[in-house]
Amino acid sequence: MSLIEITGNDLIMAASGFWDRMANRYEKSPVSDEVAYQKKLEVTQTYFKPDMRVLEFGCGTGSTAIVHAPYVEHIIAIDFSDKMLAIARSKAKAANIENVDFINSEIEQFEAPEQGFDVILGHSILHLLKNKQVAIERTYNMLKPGGVFVSSTACMGGSFLKYILPIGHGLGLLPLVRFFSVDELVQNINGAGFEIVRQWQPEGSSAVFIVAKKPV
Ligand SMILES: C[S@@+](CC[C@H](N)C(=O)[O-])C[C@H]1O[C@@H](n2cnc3c(N)ncnc32)[C@H](O)[C@@H]1O
Repeated sequence: MSLIEITGNDLIMAASGFWDRMANRYEKSPVSDEVAYQKKLEVTQTYFKPDMRVLEFGCGTGSTAIVHAPYVEHIIAIDFSDKMLAIARSKAKAANIENVDFINSEIEQFEAPEQGFDVILGHSILHLLKNKQVAIERTYNMLKPGGVFVSSTACMGGSFLKYILPIGHGLGLLPLVRFFSVDELVQNINGAGFEIVRQWQPEGSSAVFIVAKKPV
């Protein structure tokens, strides 16, 4: 294929292809900080009620959605990698979880009713998007008034990795990663209209955990 024939769709396929290739390895790799992960799950669950409808974007192999499923009415978990979703579906089936729908969709294209969700989750995903602001604004629109956006995002602005990771991406070994600071992410979230109600960065981690509320 020549360069001029490459369309936006081809770029999406290339990106999801990376995650398709990674899916088995991703599922087997341990959580980098289990204590912090458990705390994030616990904090998230304080915002749940049994009648709530939840969206998770970039759900990967579904671990987080499966843990949260018993605490809410329904979860839509989207990801653009079929292989990640296949693993997620088989894990949910093995765990007898029936209130999670795993759907193939890009967050940028996902069609959902405005103000349809009580809680939206986006973990380890905003730094992988071409334009995180678009996803944050879509999240805002999809939340009910008073709804909550819970995210955990690698903020690596200023890291030397910004010189190294693009090489790995060029070689097809890594996804495209965006580099930005915590301040920039906070500005994006506030700029969309949210009020940040909780912000926590575990020691030694680049990942910032943020709970942001859409005003009533
Ligand atoms: C680093 S993994 C995180 C998975 C999971 N949220 C977790 O915390 O383990 C990123 C996931 O986002 C998905 N992804 C990346 N860009 C996406 C996009 N634009 N729309 C939907 N999913 C996307 C990838 O396929 C991958 O499964």
